[in-house]
Amino acid sequence: MDGNRFTEAMGAMAHAIDKNKDFLTDLDRAIGDADHGVNMARGFHAVMEKLKQTPPADLQSGLKTVAMALISTVGGASGPLYGTAFLRCAKAAKGETEISAELAARMLRAAIDGIESLGKAVPGDKTMIDALEPAYAAFSDSLKSGNNLVKCLEAACKAAEKGIEFTKTIPAKKGRASYLGERSVGHQDPGATSATILLAALTEYCRKTEKE
Ligand SMILES: Nc1ncnc2c1ncn2[C@@H]1O[C@H](COP(=O)(O)OP(=O)(O)O)[C@@H](O)[C@H]1O
Ligand SMILES: [Mg+2]
Repeated sequence: MDGNRFTEAMGAMAHAIDKNKDFLTDLDRAIGDADHGVNMARGFHAVMEKLKQTPPADLQSGLKTVAMALISTVGGASGPLYGTAFLRCAKAAKGETEISAELAARMLRAAIDGIESLGKAVPGDKTMIDALEPAYAAFSDSLKSGNNLVKCLEAACKAAEKGIEFTKTIPAKKGRASYLGERSVGHQDPGATSATILLAALTEYCRKTEKE
């Protein structure tokens, strides 16, 4: 994957976050402090600025640039968590040039491990983990069945969507929404939603460019 394609893929994610900025903020208004969409949009705007200033020499350095931009601009709980996720992806991508389905699985696993080690959330806490863990499980099942990257990503997206639905049924145990306890039931988690939006945007980008 050359630097241009990397920047394009990140651009697809940035665009999706921007499009859903108000939606994410509204979700966070219901069970948090109404800043998730604003935080994420600011972060991804900074990511695109940085990538334009310094076109990435390789996959690892591109992912590092993304991580640093997110860590320094998103803020809140999600900034360091998403930043760590991209840092772990960068580590997993060391020396790699093409994103195969196998590498994508390793990167996704590394990203989730990073989020879990920093935030200490487990499945069922009503966080981004409730979208990401099922997404990883579906991705790796699909990979084991011999599917290609796009098919694996599609399976991951479907599972993440179901994960969002699951977050509506449970009280939050981590993050600001946990202050509401049972009153957070009935609302979908903003971070699970942004994680799914990012995954869907990446999937759409890979689907579109698969045949090019
Ligand atoms: N400990 C955690 N582990 C994983 N995700 C978390 C954790 N705490 C919060 N989150 C995620 O962060 C989202 C909120 O992000 P954001 O609104 O940007 O931060 P803040 O809650 O600090 O305002 C939540 O919806 C949840 O998915
Ligand atoms: Mg918030």
